[in-house]
Amino acid sequence: MKAFVTGVTGQDGFYLTKLLLDKGYQVHGTIRRSSSFNTERIDPLISEYEEGGLLKLYYSDLLDSSSLNNLINSIEPDEIYNLAAQSHVAVSFKNPLYSTQTSVVGPITLLEAVKNSKKDIKYYQASSSEMFGGIDSNTLNENTKFRPKSPYAVGKVFAHEITKVYRESYGIFGVNGILFNHESPLRGETFVTRKITRAVGRIKNMLQEKVTLGNLEASRDWGFAGDYVEGMYLMMQHSIPDDWVLATGETHTVKEFAELAFNEVGLNYQDYVLIDSRHQRPNEVNYLLGDPSKAKSELGWENKTSFSSLVKKMVEEDVLLAEREKVLLEKGLLKPTWEYPIKN
Ligand code: NAP
Ligand code: GDD
Repeated sequence: MKAFVTGVTGQDGFYLTKLLLDKGYQVHGTIRRSSSFNTERIDPLISEYEEGGLLKLYYSDLLDSSSLNNLINSIEPDEIYNLAAQSHVAVSFKNPLYSTQTSVVGPITLLEAVKNSKKDIKYYQASSSEMFGGIDSNTLNENTKFRPKSPYAVGKVFAHEITKVYRESYGIFGVNGILFNHESPLRGETFVTRKITRAVGRIKNMLQEKVTLGNLEASRDWGFAGDYVEGMYLMMQHSIPDDWVLATGETHTVKEFAELAFNEVGLNYQDYVLIDSRHQRPNEVNYLLGDPSKAKSELGWENKTSFSSLVKKMVEEDVLLAEREKVLLEKGLLKPTWEYPIKN
């Protein structure tokens, strides 16, 4: 089996690629040219699988329709997982055109390539709970109305709907995974969970004094990325293409996350967290709580990682990372790039 994965260098890109390689797939991934190295997450997979031809990487971009077309035509994958996006909600307010373009041009290009292929290629679209807008405290499922509140979410609603349009109009096997927030030790460091656990690791190691955050009252349904990519895979193996929510069915505030993360190392978050209005958004999604019962009954998918074990896993990894940073700092091989550094 051949899978084509966009966004292979991202958090989900790593976990999904690992899962597919473990299942014996050949994985073809797109990477972007960057002035610095951007394959850090998948470097271990590159070392293990690239030489044997099981992992192949190509320069491309969701906005470069011709390169995506050429790749799909020549690779003829069995499955496409479209994970790529400018995925940071706050950044989408600053770069609205680029953020929405990636979710408009990318999916249409890939769906057109699927439609025009002689092969029956399955297509997965990375939809998001952000599309719901988090207006009230209802539990959200596949039938809930979308009320997008950011350029990011508007782009994702487009990608979601166009996938349905191609499914219904041309009989394409196109699925939308409506995933609630999922985190891991590989989460980007500007998302709130990782920002907190990175700070906890450094504060514990006396490398950082404080961390600045925005809205502590926002509530999210946070799961573990490793569990969620299993759900993506199951959606693509289901007999009928459809849309499924993946969520834990529990929601917690940013404050609760911070409290638990600092507690893991015996500290009180109130001594270290500063509120900074720079981290407030023009329009906030206040509350997200998902209902994963359709994924459970139809796919047999279940969240396996509890909130407390997710926080623990992330803190443990980031304490170790900070210990390594400390050694490098002491040898003069690293300069602090984080906020409120303690200079030794
Ligand atoms: P991520 O870590 O930010 O990874 C995003 C990936 O997209 C990276 O590989 C990035 O490449 C790539 N990318 C960005 N712009 C691109 C472009 N114009 N062309 C090609 N590639 C581009 O995101 P993630 O957390 O793994 O999420 C994966 C997908 O699921 C995203 O579409 C996200 O919106 C969606 N989603 C995520 C969550 C979540 O909680 N994680 C929940 C729901 C939906 P670089 O490495 O070069 O930047
Ligand atoms: N990033 C960030 N930084 N968020 C903060 C901060 C901060 O310093 N302080 C408070 N927050 C709040 C945000 O205002 C938001 O309400 C919440 O923490 C979560 O923010 P993020 O971790 O940036 O994630 P997100 O929920 O906006 O978006 C993520 O989940 C979506 C699924 O619901 C991303 O992964 C999206 O790509 C994904 O679609």
